[in-house]
Amino acid sequence: MADLQLTLAINDEFKPAAEFLGTQTVSRNPTHVTYTYNPTMDFAADGTAAGHAYWVYGVALREGGGEAPLGTIDVRSEGFGLGDAPVNATETGAGQWGSALAFACNQFGLECFVYMVAASYHQKPYRRVMMETWGGQVVPSPSDRTQAGKAILARDPDTSGSLGIAISEAVEDAATHPDTHYSLGSVLNHVLLHQTVIGLEAKQQLEQAGEGLPDVVLGSCGGGSNLAGLALPFVPDCGGANGGNGPRLVAVEPSACPTLTEGRFDYDFGDEAGMTPKILMYTLGHEFIPPPIHAGGLRYHGDAPIICNLVKNGWMEAVAYPQGKVFEAAMQFARSQGTIPAPETAHAIRGAIDEALAAKEAGEERVILFNYSGHGLLDLAAYDAFLHGQLVDV
Ligand SMILES: Cc1ncc(COP(=O)(O)O)c(C=O)c1O
Repeated sequence: MADLQLTLAINDEFKPAAEFLGTQTVSRNPTHVTYTYNPTMDFAADGTAAGHAYWVYGVALREGGGEAPLGTIDVRSEGFGLGDAPVNATETGAGQWGSALAFACNQFGLECFVYMVAASYHQKPYRRVMMETWGGQVVPSPSDRTQAGKAILARDPDTSGSLGIAISEAVEDAATHPDTHYSLGSVLNHVLLHQTVIGLEAKQQLEQAGEGLPDVVLGSCGGGSNLAGLALPFVPDCGGANGGNGPRLVAVEPSACPTLTEGRFDYDFGDEAGMTPKILMYTLGHEFIPPPIHAGGLRYHGDAPIICNLVKNGWMEAVAYPQGKVFEAAMQFARSQGTIPAPETAHAIRGAIDEALAAKEAGEERVILFNYSGHGLLDLAAYDAFLHGQLVDV
């Protein structure tokens, strides 16, 4: 707004400015303002170099002689330089979404506040350091910053938390602070659709590799975003659409949080405290707190509506594995490929290995596509536990 007024004033375009602005008034009086410095707005000869943030109010237009009204614009600036930017509050499980948001906020001069599921906060401490490196603030969830967090802590001070609880805290934070907005990293359909670039690119990569459609497409499923990102572009080709002739789509989840394989299909809250709208999905109940498995990003009681509907209508299969078998697959992959997958990713790898073994058994060639959703370099404590026989198999 301020830029626009300045431009119109400099170009002597008071009349269109007056028409555009009308008699609007706004009652904002920020004590702090952040701004993006745009050198192209500088007109040094006119003494209008933008060397600081300014907030414009009290714009007055006075009628004068001649064709166009002559005007003066009274401008007052407040909050020079630094300011309090809007805050983004979010939840994070494994810490990938929290890291991504912390970095993005850092790029745009916004504050980022992350409620990180307590189990992951303690299992993956370097994720917190990543977020803090990008200027984010991180607390273990449940925390005593919110009513939702306090209620859980009162019931169970040693709780490992869950994604549902962390969502309640972030939503409450945003709902009770006007300068705070909530960002969700999975579960909702629009998040899934953003990620479909993964599947669209995978299609092109397969084509370049001289393959047609894959026989099976797999992804680990926490809220459903990486799986959907890879699988949704294959829906028009898949078995459900083609009477069993297209690629099979497979969701892989932990036995400790078997939403798609054992949950009920029902309307349920997306968060523990029941603050979100109800979503039609498979759910283990919004108060379900899964055991603290190392795949923290898969500890969610529900799943994205699109994924749940695909499963419900037979267009997608779902399979669940205990974490011991998942870590066996992770070790096999790490030793043969040289990269160490995240425990969440290792679910998809377990599924892919079992598909390959089934194909071998059947004497068939199968093109198996899975999503390598993240590395496990910040999960080495989990590998350590597995290597030294300390991993609890749930
Ligand atoms: C590496 C990794 N893979 C998968 C997931 C599961 O999330 P989603 O189901 O939204 O893809 C997570 C979540 O934190 C993750 O960190």
